Order: sequence, then C-alpha cells, then structure tokens
Amino acid sequence: MENEVLDKLLDAATEAAEHSYSPYSGFPVGAAVLTADGSIYSGTNVENASYGATMCAERVAIFKAVSEGADKILALAVYTSAAEFAFPCGMCLQVLSEFAEDIPVIVAGDSGMKTFSLSELLPHRFGRE
Ligand code: THU
Repeated sequence: MENEVLDKLLDAATEAAEHSYSPYSGFPVGAAVLTADGSIYSGTNVENASYGATMCAERVAIFKAVSEGADKILALAVYTSAAEFAFPCGMCLQVLSEFAEDIPVIVAGDSGMKTFSLSELLPHRFGRE
C-alpha cells in the first residue's frame, strides 16, 4: 500500500474515534477500511445501555462500506489511544474475512503502528466452502 493511502487510512481511523459513543467502557475505538475502488470508510464503536447491543468500530466501518456497494476490502486500520495496541475482536475479523483476502490489518495507537496480515490474526476463518 502506498504511504499516502496508509496515512489517509490511519487519519480516518483516528478521526473516527473522536465520534465514539462509549460511555460504558470509556474505551473509544476508531477503524477505517480501504475498498477496491480506493474509497475509505470509517467507523467508531457505538455502545448501548444493554451492553450486548454494542457495535465495534471495525464492523461499523465494514458495514458502511458494504452498504455503499463495496464488496472487496483491501486494508483495515484500527486506532485506540490505549497504551497497548488493541486488536480487532474475533467477530470483527470473521466479518472482515467475508469481504477480504489475506489483507493488511494495521493496529495503531498514539505511540505508533504495527501491520499484521488477516491470516495471522484469523488463521482459520469459518466458511461454508
Ligand atoms: N471494541 C471495538 O470497537 N472493536 C474491537 O475489536 C473490540 C472492542 C469496542 C467495543 C466496546 O465499545 C469497547 O471497545 C470495549 O470493549
């Protein structure tokens, strides 16, 4: 991925965290996906008083992209300001794998970023095939 695109993806994930609705956990998360046509869709975590109805930032970004017509995701970035990197949860990785090959997953915080492959984080996706 070009540096310029990577920067845009990280900026989108970081900005999205500013809109986090996380009064219960106090843990804002931002995510952004790059789609095959070069578009970037971002998302943040949206919590709920029921707790269980909470939606993760990554799935918000993925669902926004897919509902706008995208069917191929080329990269995902996730941002938190936590001291340790926060990785996408298993459910978000499974959802991502529906629309992605073995893409880069960039995990970022205020002190830097690290790139993993989707297959490193989810070596055995569930699939019907
Ligand atoms: N969260 C995400 O947004 N993405 C993840 O991959 C894991 C967790 C959110 C859900 C909840 O609002 C908060 O982080 C604490 O779990």
